[in-house]
Amino acid sequence: MRVKASIQGIEVYQPGKSLKDVKAELGLEEVIKLSSNENPYGCSPRVFPALMELKDQFHYYPDGAAQDLKAKLAEHLEVDERRLILGNGSDEVIQIICRTILEPGAESVMADLTFSRYEAGVMIEGATPVKVPMKEGTHDLEAMLAAITEKTRVVWVCNPNNPTGTMVGQEELERFLDQVPDHVFVVLDEAYYEYVTDPSYPDSLSLLDYNPQIIVLRTFSKIYGLASFRVGYGIAHPDLIQEFERVREPFNVNSLAQQAAIAALEDQEFIAYCRRQNRRGIEKITSKLDELGLKYFPAHGNFIMFDAQLPADVVFQFLLRKGIIVRTRIGGPTYVRVTVGTDEQNERLLEALTEMKRGL
Ligand SMILES: Cc1ncc(COP(=O)(O)O)c(C=O)c1O
Repeated sequence: MRVKASIQGIEVYQPGKSLKDVKAELGLEEVIKLSSNENPYGCSPRVFPALMELKDQFHYYPDGAAQDLKAKLAEHLEVDERRLILGNGSDEVIQIICRTILEPGAESVMADLTFSRYEAGVMIEGATPVKVPMKEGTHDLEAMLAAITEKTRVVWVCNPNNPTGTMVGQEELERFLDQVPDHVFVVLDEAYYEYVTDPSYPDSLSLLDYNPQIIVLRTFSKIYGLASFRVGYGIAHPDLIQEFERVREPFNVNSLAQQAAIAALEDQEFIAYCRRQNRRGIEKITSKLDELGLKYFPAHGNFIMFDAQLPADVVFQFLLRKGIIVRTRIGGPTYVRVTVGTDEQNERLLEALTEMKRGL
C-alpha cells in the first residue's frame, strides 16, 4: 500500500479503557475512570438547558466563524477576538499549527515525555521531532534551547505537562522566550491552566501581548467538563491566526459544542469549585503516596504521576479488578498516572493502593 512514508513511525493513539468495556469485561456495576484527566464533576448544570435550545436546529450547519463563542471567550480572557482560533478539541489546533508551519526538512522540539499529539502532528507533515530529555519530569528549557537549530520551526512546552503534571514558572519561561530565535514559534499548551494554583505559574496571555512567536492552547475538555463535545482553542498574534484560518476546516466546531462552551464559560463558580476540589484531592492523594513511600511528580493539573515500584501492568490489572481504571504505558515501566477524582473516588483509589502495597 502506498501511503506517506512520514506516517509510518506514528503510533496509533491508544485511548484509556472505556467505562462500558470495563463494566462488561469484569461484570462490575461501579467502575471509576481515572485514566483520561476528565472532570469527575461533569460540566456546569447550565449546559444541558442551553443545548435544548438547539433541538430544532440540527439540520443547519454550524456558524463556521463561531462568532458568539469567540465573543464570549474574548470577553472572558480579555483578549481581542482576532487572536482566537477554535478547534475540534485542542488536538485539532495542534494539527492546524503543524499543517500551517511545518514541512519536510523542518524540525520541531519537544520534551521526551509529553503529550503525544505533538510528535504525531509533526510527523504527519514530514517534519522531524527532536525530543529533549526532561529533568525529573520537568521541561528542561535550557536543553530545549540548545536543541534549536536553523531548521527548528516549532517548540512545544506543555504546561502543566501531561503526563508528569509538572510546570515551568514565569521567570524561567521568560528567560527561555527571550533567547528563542525569531524563526521559531513556541506553543504553550495550557490544557490544565484552570487547575493551577501555584503563584509562579506564567501569565502567558500577558507574554503574548509583546511576543508574536507565542501560541497558547487551552481547552474545554478538562475543567469545563466538555471532553465529548470537542472544543479547544489557540490564542496567538492576529496575523498568525489569519494563516491558521486558511488551513482550518470551515465547520470544525459543531453547533452543540459551541453552545455548550458558551454556557460553560458563564458558570465560573462551577470552575472555581472544581479547582478547589481538585487541589484537596491532590493533597489527599499525595499525602497517602508519601505514607506508602511512593514517589510522585509535583502535580499541577488534575492528575498525578507516581512510581508504583511495581510493573505498571500489574498495578493496572490490580486496580481494574477493583473497578478503577488508571493510565499506564506512559513514561517508565513502573509509572502510573491517575486523574484526581471526587472525594469518594479518591478514597476508593487510596484504599486499593494501600491494599496493593500491603499485598503484592
Ligand atoms: C496537554 C494536552 N493538550 C491537549 C489535549 C487535547 O485536549 P482536547 O480534548 O482539547 O483535544 C490534552 C488532552 O488530554 C492534553 O493533555
